[in-house]
Amino acid sequence: MKDGVIADFEISEHMLRYFIGKVARKSLFTNLTVVVAVPYGITAVERRAVMDSAYRAGADDVITIPEPVASAIGVGLPVEEPTGSMIVDIGGGTTEVAVLSLGGIVHARSIRVGGDEFDMSIIKYIRNSYNLIIGERTAEEIKIKIGSAYALEQELTFEVKGRDNVTGLPRQLHLTSQEVREAMADNINLIIEAIKGSLERIPPELSADLVDRGIVLAGGGSLIRKIDRAISEATGLPVFVAEDPLCAVVNGTGKILANSSRWSGRD
Ligand SMILES: Nc1ncnc2c1ncn2[C@@H]1O[C@H](COP(=O)(O)OP(=O)(O)OP(=O)(O)O)[C@@H](O)[C@H]1O
Ligand SMILES: [Mg+2]
Repeated sequence: MKDGVIADFEISEHMLRYFIGKVARKSLFTNLTVVVAVPYGITAVERRAVMDSAYRAGADDVITIPEPVASAIGVGLPVEEPTGSMIVDIGGGTTEVAVLSLGGIVHARSIRVGGDEFDMSIIKYIRNSYNLIIGERTAEEIKIKIGSAYALEQELTFEVKGRDNVTGLPRQLHLTSQEVREAMADNINLIIEAIKGSLERIPPELSADLVDRGIVLAGGGSLIRKIDRAISEATGLPVFVAEDPLCAVVNGTGKILANSSRWSGRD
């Protein structure tokens, strides 16, 4: 995997074969359907490669679903209806913004900003402000423990341990949630700009739907404190975080699988 995208098909195929072996006792009489969520905007050749990989791993039928459709279905948005829904999936490597209606994608965009980039910004901030070097795991922990996108009623603190960039010795410091917010602000703004850019490009009827229905956030990045509030202030729309944001895509593929006759051969 690279930036959340399959980079090595051979290994992915092995992994898939392993999972298929775990869940399905294949016989001549069972038909094994595999649903694969693929990034929006992959080429037909890339999609074909994913499908071939799944067939070689033992699938009888393969359905590919664009990730934004899968996550929208996963969080329970009424994507089949003639109304507009917006899903913003803030993942590790990328953030996908998508507007869906009538079972399809009306508009979607993907930016290479996500949770990993938040971590990098925190590392950079602490190095530049305090000459302290921390690792990616520590940065992620800081983000999860005290990260926010909007002022908190009760600001938080975190004891950060790292290596002094000058002396090379271990050192610790007291970090506040305000500082982490400042460190991540540029990333959050890029996400907000992407959402606004998408809102400008959809048909007005769908914009009207979004005024009522709002935006739903999914993906691990949506767990950043008050990111819903920050996006809501910037767009003027209601914003909701999905109930199980980390599992939106996988829950969506599960629902599609349960209803596979309706989805096969659609894309
Ligand atoms: N409670 C939390 N607060 C903030 N960030 C979190 C939290 N839990 C997980 N994350 C972050 O969410 C990201 C992973 O999210 P997710 O699982 O949705 O990504 P992914 O689907 O693997 O990536 P992509 O969608 O880019 O392919 C990581 O950067 C992780 O640090
Ligand atoms: Mg994802």
